[in-house]
Parts: sequence; C-alpha cells; structure tokens
Amino acid sequence: MTEPLLDIRNLGVRYGAIRAVKGLDLHIHAGEHVTLIGANGAGKTSTLRALTGLIAASEGELRFAGRSLHGMPAHQRLRLGLAMVPEGRGVFARMSVEENLHAGAYLRRDPDAVAAQIDEILGWFPHLKRRFKQPAGLLSGGEQQMLALGRALLSQPRLLVLDEPSMGLAPTMVERIFETIAEVCRRGMTLLLVEQNARLALQVTERAYVLDSGQVTLSGQSRALLDDPQVRAAYLGD
Ligand SMILES: Nc1ncnc2c1ncn2[C@@H]1O[C@H](COP(=O)(O)OP(=O)(O)OP(=O)(O)O)[C@@H](O)[C@H]1O
Ligand SMILES: [Mg+2]
Repeated sequence: MTEPLLDIRNLGVRYGAIRAVKGLDLHIHAGEHVTLIGANGAGKTSTLRALTGLIAASEGELRFAGRSLHGMPAHQRLRLGLAMVPEGRGVFARMSVEENLHAGAYLRRDPDAVAAQIDEILGWFPHLKRRFKQPAGLLSGGEQQMLALGRALLSQPRLLVLDEPSMGLAPTMVERIFETIAEVCRRGMTLLLVEQNARLALQVTERAYVLDSGQVTLSGQSRALLDDPQVRAAYLGD
C-alpha cells in the first residue's frame, strides 16, 4: 500500500484546559473523498486548524505528501498543497471578486491557465461573474462561499479542505456548491469535507469519520454509515 497523502496519528488539540480533540487518527489517500461529521463542538474545526497550521497540535503526528507538518507554518503547508476554505469563508472583504480569485493563484506562474480557470469558475458561478469588479464584502453568504471555493481551487491544491460549506446558505445555494464539489471530485481532487449536513456529506464522499467529543467513534464507508441505525438516529434526523 502506498503512503497516504494525509496521515494524522493520535492528534490532540487543547485550548488551555479544554481538550477539543483527543487521540484522533485519520488518513486520506490521493484521490479519496472523505468526510468528518459530528455535532456542534465535536472538534471538527479544531482538527482542521491543527492540520492547516492555524493552531499547534498539542499531541500527535501529522504527515502530508511524505513530509512531517510538525512546526511547519500555515503558508508553507499551503505551498505543499493543503488548501482550506475555513468556516465563515474568510474572503478578503475589501478586495474585488477578481482580486480574491487572483490571490488564490499567487504562487502560480502560468497566467494563461489561471485566466482559463477563472473563466471556468465564473461559468460555474455566474453570480461571481456579475460582481467580478465589486468588493467581496458586498457578496451574499452563498456568493462568498462560491468565491472562497474558487479561490482555493486556483491554488491547485493536492488536498482541498472544506469546513462547513453549507453553513447558513439557502437550499439552492447549497445545491450549487455541492454540485461543484462533486464535479471537482470527479476530476480527481482529493477532498476532506467537514459538514453539519451529514446526509449531504455522506452522499458526496466515499469514506467517513464520526467525531464525538473530540474522539472518532465510528469510521467506514460513507454508504454504510448512511444506513447505520445509530448514525441515522444521531446525525441524519431519522
Ligand atoms: N478558540 C477556542 N478557545 C477555547 N475553546 C475553543 C476554541 N475553539 C473551539 N473551542 C472549543 O473546542 C471544542 C471543539 O470546537 P470546534 O470548533 O472544533 O468544534 P466543531 O466540531 O467545529 O463544532 P461546529 O460544528 O459548531 O463548528 C468546543 O468545545 C469549543 O467550545
Ligand atoms: Mg466547526
């Protein structure tokens, strides 16, 4: 078996006395689409923050693309191909849509390919095309989510990490965003998706981890979890 693209072992995250993540093991092979689901406060965002370098892990080992991430700053992890769309999106509010998209591509040296990819993203999200020259802060929540996703894709990540892309969005917006995520996956992107909407998350991924109070309580094929009575009762509202 080849080494996974991402290998997290025994991850611990603390905020002072609070242990938000405890002994988490998670791996993703290149080309896999994996979701991490769990209730509010389960430790999903904390896991992603430790992965992308926004906070330091208190315990454990993180390896990505054959390298240890120990002590590596966030911008260097991005260079290695770890791109995250954070909870709440984090677009640059005073920059235009166009500038935000170019910011995603700042490490690239292929302007023609960048321009072609921006065209493609605008084709997926016509909302962004209409507001191309406007400040991103004027966009609706759904439009900002589209922009943040487009910006992350423009960095050509090896692993795309999404934290709650459906949060606060109208159903039609959620549908649009998830159609795009599915298309990006079909083209071979490796995905780690964190989602409150567990049903949706299990539908667009092949493998899943269930996090409860900072610990993985269940993992397996997404399809099997969709049928699991405990998962259905706890996370799918059945
Ligand atoms: N900056 C922080 N300082 C102190 N405690 C924090 C901080 N961020 C998160 N926590 C705590 O850590 C635990 C895990 O939070 P986390 O944000 O990782 O959960 P989550 O699974 O992403 O939840 P949600 O679904 O609500 O986004 C919670 O108990 C939370 O209150
Ligand atoms: Mg969260």
